[in-house]
Formats: sequence, C-alpha cells, structure tokens
Amino acid sequence: SIEQTFGIIKPNAVQDGNIGNILSAIEKAGFTLRGMRMARLTPELCRGFYAEHVHKGFYPELEAFMTEGPVVLLCLEGENAILRWRELMGATDPAKAAEGTLRKLYGQNMGRNATHGSDSPDSAAREVSYFFSAFDRI
Ligand code: CMP
Repeated sequence: SIEQTFGIIKPNAVQDGNIGNILSAIEKAGFTLRGMRMARLTPELCRGFYAEHVHKGFYPELEAFMTEGPVVLLCLEGENAILRWRELMGATDPAKAAEGTLRKLYGQNMGRNATHGSDSPDSAAREVSYFFSAFDRI
C-alpha cells in the first residue's frame, strides 16, 4: 500500500556535500517527496525525537552528532515506502551495509551513518508529525 515515511539527511552527509546525491537516489528510487526542509536540531528536539534511545549508552554521542550541524528533514511517500527507504539506506552500521546503499556510500561509522529512516508504521507516523505540520506537507 502507499505509505509515508520519515527520513533525515544527517550532519555528516550535509557537511560532505552529499545532499544532492541522496536526493537524487531518492528520486531515482521513485519516492514522492511530500515534505523537505533544512533544520538545526536542538538537544531538546533531539531528545524528543530519539526518545527510545535517550537512556542508552550511545545517546550522548548521538545527540552531540545530530546537533553539530544542519540536517535535511524528509517526508517520503510511495508503495511500501517504509521498507523501501530502509533498503535504500542499508544497514545502520555502514561497515555492514550492502554495496550501493546510502550508508555504504556516504556513512563513516555507526554514528555518522548519513541517513535516518523510520523503522515501522508507528514510528513513521510519529516521526513525520514530529517535524512536519499539515501546512508544510504538500
Ligand atoms: P538512526 O537510524 O538514526 O537511529 C538511532 C541512531 O543511533 C542510529 O541511526 C545510529 O546512527 C546511532 N547509534 C550509535 N550507536 C548505536 C548503537 N550501538 N546501536 C544502534 N544505533 C546506534
């Protein structure tokens, strides 16, 4: 069925000049862009977004990274979009990601892994509405 999912182009990929490459891959994969804007996450926004990870050991490092520079927030739509966006990104750890995936191409390590994607219908709904209002989705 047609789904919407949420994505982030993370600070390392923005800094490395890979926004265009990632958007190009998204378009070539046939997603419809329903929302897109740049933002600078604050610690408060990051904590709310990654609520399920706040108490994990890697969270301080995750917050420091996600707030170090601008990100691109995305709402992607398409057939089976949640799974297909995760497949395009590849495994969370770029070292384990398949050839040709975004994290393999543009990620440096588990933290600086270039992109985020929702992992389920529930998280997609929560994450899209966390960053996008009805006014800035087309
Ligand atoms: P993301 O899909 O944005 O969701 C949580 C992020 O935490 C994940 O990508 C990784 O970049 C980061 N992270 C850092 N260390 C770990 C870890 N040990 N396990 C899972 N995620 C981690």
